[in-house]
Amino acid sequence: MRLKDKTAVITGGGNGIGRETALTFAREGSNVVVADFDPEAGKVTVNSIRESGGKAAFQQVDVSDQANVETLMKTVHDTFGSLDILVNNAGITDDGMLAKLGRDSWQRVIDVNLSGVFYCTQAAAAYMIEQGSGKIISASSISGVYGNIGQTNYAATKAGVIGMTKTWAKELGRKGINVNAIAPGFVETGMVEKVPEKVIAQMVEKVPLKRLGKPSDIAKAYLYLASSDADYVNGTILHVDGGIVV
Ligand code: CAA
Ligand code: NAI
Repeated sequence: MRLKDKTAVITGGGNGIGRETALTFAREGSNVVVADFDPEAGKVTVNSIRESGGKAAFQQVDVSDQANVETLMKTVHDTFGSLDILVNNAGITDDGMLAKLGRDSWQRVIDVNLSGVFYCTQAAAAYMIEQGSGKIISASSISGVYGNIGQTNYAATKAGVIGMTKTWAKELGRKGINVNAIAPGFVETGMVEKVPEKVIAQMVEKVPLKRLGKPSDIAKAYLYLASSDADYVNGTILHVDGGIVV
C-alpha cells in the first residue's frame, strides 16, 4: 500500500476526479477526508469507501470560505492526529466569451478556484510545518497553461494555481513539504458535460490518444505525487492530457 496510515484531505471529493481520487487513496491505505460543498455526493463517496473496507469521513466545506476551511483542517488534525496530504481538487467553471463575461461569474470562479486553493493550503501547511512533512497537490488545467476559448476566469485561476504551486514549492520545500500540481486535459466528468459537442469533438481530435481523459487517469497521477515515489518531485506541473499539444 502506497499511502498506508496517511491522512489525506481531498477537496471536491464528492464527484468526478475527486471521488475517484478518494477511492484510489483509500485502496492504498489512507484515511480519506472527503471535503465537499455537496453533502449528498460526499456521503456517496464515503459510503463506497467504507463498503470496500476503507477508512473515510465526510466534512462539508466551502473552500471559498476561509473560516470554514480553517475549521476543516483543525478538525482533521484533531481527529486523526496528522494531516499528511492535501489535494486541492475542488473547482468550478462558469464559462462565457470575454464580451459577455459578467462580474459575478468572474468573482465566483476566482473565489473557489484561486482563493480556495490559497485558504486550504495556508491552513493545512501550518500543520504540515509542525509535522515537518506533507504533500500538497493542486488541480491546474490545460486551460491555465494554454488558455481556452470562453474561459477567461477559469484560465486565470488555473494559471494562478501554477504560480502559487511554484512559490510554495520554494517556501515549503525546506520544511519537508512537497508542492506540485496536475494540469489535466478534458476529462469525462460533470464539468465537461456542459461543453458543446462540437468543442469536445475538436479536443478529442487534437489528442494523439484520441480520447478524453478518465477520472482514474488523473487519480493515478495524484496518487503518484502523494506517495513516497515522488519524494524528490517538487514544484512540478504534471500534464495529464494525452499529449494534446505534442
Ligand atoms: N473553438 C473554436 N470556436 C469556438 C470554440 C472553440 N473551443 N468555442 C466557441 N467557439 C466559437 C463558436 O463556434 C462561435 O462561433 P461563431 O460566432 O462563428 O458562430 C463563437 O465562438 C461564439 O460561441 P457560442 O455561440 O458558443 O457563444 P455563446 O456565448 O453562446 O457561448 C461559451 C460561449 C459558453 C464559451 C460556449 O462556447 C462554450 O461553452 N464553449 C466551451 C468552453 C469550454 O471549452 N469549456 C471547458 C469546460 S471543461 C473544463 O473547464 C475542464 C478543463 O479544465 C479543461
Ligand atoms: P466536478 O464538477 O465533477 O466535481 C467538482 C467537485 O467540487 C464537486 O463535488 C463539487 O461539489 C465540489 N465543489 C465545487 N465547489 C466547491 C466549493 N466551493 N467547496 C467545496 N467543494 C466544492 O469536477 P471535476 O471535473 O472532477 O474537476 C475536479 C478538478 O479538476 C477541478 O479543480 C477542475 O477545475 C479540474 N480539472 C477538471 C478537468 C475536466 O476536464 N474535468 C480538466 C482540468 C482540470
